[in-house]
Amino acid sequence: MKVLHAAAELFPYVKVGGLADVMGALPQALSNEGVYVRLLLPAYPALMKVARIYGTHASYPDLMGGGSARLLLADVPGSVPIYLLDAPGYFNRDCGPYDEWGDNHRRFSALSWVTAQLALNGDAEGMRPDVVHLHDWQTALTPVFMSLSGSAHRPKTVLTIHNLAYQGVFPQYILDEIWLPHEAFHLNGAEYFGKINYLKAGLAYTDKITTVSPTYAREIQGKEGGYTLEGILQRRSKDLVGILNGVDELVWNPSKDPHLQTPFNIKNLKLNKGYNKKAFQREMGLNEDENAQLFGIVSRFDAIKGLDLVIPNIDYMVSLGAQLAVLGRGNYDMESAFSWAAGRHPGSVATFTGYDEGKAHRLMAASDVLLVPSRSEPCGLTQLYAMRYGALPVARKTGGLADTIVDVTSETLKDGTATGFLFFDPESWRLGEAITRAVSLYKNEPEIWEKIQTNAMAQHFTWTRSAKQYAKLYKSLLGQ
Ligand code: ADP
Ligand code: GLC
Repeated sequence: MKVLHAAAELFPYVKVGGLADVMGALPQALSNEGVYVRLLLPAYPALMKVARIYGTHASYPDLMGGGSARLLLADVPGSVPIYLLDAPGYFNRDCGPYDEWGDNHRRFSALSWVTAQLALNGDAEGMRPDVVHLHDWQTALTPVFMSLSGSAHRPKTVLTIHNLAYQGVFPQYILDEIWLPHEAFHLNGAEYFGKINYLKAGLAYTDKITTVSPTYAREIQGKEGGYTLEGILQRRSKDLVGILNGVDELVWNPSKDPHLQTPFNIKNLKLNKGYNKKAFQREMGLNEDENAQLFGIVSRFDAIKGLDLVIPNIDYMVSLGAQLAVLGRGNYDMESAFSWAAGRHPGSVATFTGYDEGKAHRLMAASDVLLVPSRSEPCGLTQLYAMRYGALPVARKTGGLADTIVDVTSETLKDGTATGFLFFDPESWRLGEAITRAVSLYKNEPEIWEKIQTNAMAQHFTWTRSAKQYAKLYKSLLGQ
């Protein structure tokens, strides 16, 4: 079974969020299950720098008005074989992959169109996938191009929603710029309140839809979680399934993590996690105090992440003797609010505004608690990494957070399943209550705290398990 995955991010080369982590791990896990996988990504500078190119599989004299382009096949360290869409006019840019460029509609329609051509016609060596697996709005037009091509041999398609909040919506007048057949522009297709919606179009034309947790698969079919697409998702309900993400053991393993001075495991947890805490407190300019409960945040600063719920709790946390370390970037108001808090509480609150992979690992290793108050969270990876590193999540009970964290209650303490602290209402005082529970357990019941930590560390959200579910889905599509 040959499967082509197309996406716009790949860890560790081009990363905005969790999608990159998924693309860095899932293809390999699928290969281990016997699925032959290739990737297709834009030839971003970071990828071209490390790529060993094998050949050119197609050339386009003018790709959607962006100049000449080629489809290359390459090897990139750590990845399965990868097709790179070398369209310098579109992708030879530094900065984020989809910052507010004015031509994003053409860049990602071009990516989808080329993916469709490869799927329908095969590459220069006659290699053609049986299934094409698309990720998010940036590749979502692929099934539309494939379905409307008139080709008798259309491979099957799977479209994964990593976050329904981002849909790729553009004004209608771009229709002629993106090579999309006009017949796609209808109420149950690309049309969206008089505009064009890439994700909606993909959802209408793809064979199967997946999203990254069972709870999110349910939430997006309701009014609140549906981001205006609940109608189409309800209609496609029997083709929609939630498959949880996993943890890449090669990247997130506290006993072998090259970013840590003192790797650790369940057996030496107390002592070695303590070393990591002190080292990180020093790195961040926090008071070096092993007994201070350290809360961490690693996040994009986006309204969806609910970090505004943390701000009103900071003074309270500090008054309880806790520390807070924040790693993130994005929304300017949020950046300022955390910096301001750090200024008010030197030694107790520290913030690093930016993206830093090593710091993220050290923060997980050092922290006692990771705050994940997301208003919505399709899967969430940081809580999985935190648990693996013995940091207990305090999180909102939504999406993948609800599916991966077991709230501390008298029952879950008794049966030994507790792994974190959940709250439901997206209110800062509700988060405050969950924080209070975490602080009181840490202070008053250190042995129970340690027991929950070891329990969290023993959770294995493996990519093997997810890959098996995807492989089953591909097989069902192929009638196997
Ligand atoms: P999302 O994809 O919505 O951002 P996830 O939890 O799925 O949420 O994935 C976030 C990923 O980005 C994780 O790998 C996390 O460690 C990483 N990350 C987020 N912010 C930063 C940062 N400032 N520095 C380093 N890594 C970060
Ligand atoms: C998205 C979601 C996140 C998920 C990630 C990978 O960015 O916001 O919850 O973990 O994709 O699927």
